[in-house]
Amino acid sequence: MLRTKIAGIGKYVPENIVTNNDLLKYMDTSDEWIQERTGIKERRYAHRTKETTTTMGIEAAKVAIERAGITPQDIDFIIFATLSPDYYFPGCGVLLQREMKMGEIGALDIRNQCSGFVYGLSIADQFIKTGMYKNILLVGSEKHSFGLDFTTRGRNVTVIFGDGAGAVVLQPTTNENQGILSTHLHSDGADAEVLAMYNPGTHANYWKENLNSFDEAEIGQMFISHDMINNAQIFPNMDGQTVFKKAVVKFPEVIMEALSKNNLSTTDINLLVPHQANLRIAQFVQQKLKLSDDQVFNNIQKYGNTTAASIPIALCEAFELGKVNEGDLICLAAFGSGFTWGSALLRW
Ligand code: ACO
Repeated sequence: MLRTKIAGIGKYVPENIVTNNDLLKYMDTSDEWIQERTGIKERRYAHRTKETTTTMGIEAAKVAIERAGITPQDIDFIIFATLSPDYYFPGCGVLLQREMKMGEIGALDIRNQCSGFVYGLSIADQFIKTGMYKNILLVGSEKHSFGLDFTTRGRNVTVIFGDGAGAVVLQPTTNENQGILSTHLHSDGADAEVLAMYNPGTHANYWKENLNSFDEAEIGQMFISHDMINNAQIFPNMDGQTVFKKAVVKFPEVIMEALSKNNLSTTDINLLVPHQANLRIAQFVQQKLKLSDDQVFNNIQKYGNTTAASIPIALCEAFELGKVNEGDLICLAAFGSGFTWGSALLRW
């Protein structure tokens, strides 16, 4: 039976380091508040005009492809996960295909926010296991810094997020001691508006009143307007406490689901790489599952929350630090806007 293995992994983070103190220029916050609540010390911001979500994804992809020992032209399918795409449409996948001079292969853009990488991994796994593709490039990339509210009004969200990209090349293997054991995907739209960017969008306040400002829905109404911009209705919204409460339940649940599906237990995990949402959430999950410090990898302190990029960036960094070795049992877990959440268990 075919299994899906990670044949190469890469990451790219922009050079520009933005510390908590640097944010004081824009908003009323403090290094102490940010570190205490989130664990974040600094994050990276992409160059405003010379880097995009796609170009960062390409940089990460180049490393992953080289480590897999193949060329961009060997890639036979692209999956690109982001919530901060270069264009509203088309997605970043085709831009990456164009710039990397790949053939006329399929390019699938997915959303799923913080769970985007785990969702993408699960999609890729199905294509590889059925024999349809042999070299899938999965990218998670975000340029959050271009779409945040850099005033005190937006500080609860803005301080959390950073830019960067991660990528993996996925290939089939017949080695039963290697590759993805299982993936587990979930969603619950009941809290869709709790962590969301409502505008630009076509909802016209259908789901909830006052998500954007306009008098009546006439032909000619736009999904973006001066009023929306002036009223700060174009930025991400988050009820942080609701996110926190749900995340600390769903992370352990979906990790245990993956372990129990494979008749494994928490002591079998060599490394848990959770989505880097917030260090407090990761620590809560670690305590709940009674995992040792060596069993969990966090790097949110340096990069902030990079949404779809956070798991591949963290996994890549763990790999580069020698914390991921052949045969290791790796657990990936994510939770985010939607809400969506998921996990993947794999042998390196
Ligand atoms: N700096 C200083 N003060 C701030 C900041 C800031 N950046 N942000 C909010 N505050 C203030 C608020 O204005 C409020 O002040 P008040 O009491 O005078 O009104 C006070 O701090 C408390 O605000 P809360 O929003 O209640 O802060 P909370 O204690 O909930 O912490 C946080 C906010 C860190 C977001 C927390 O709710 C949390 O960790 N939530 C989890 C959400 C999360 O991690 N999201 C990540 C992205 S989603 C994902 O990846 C799954």
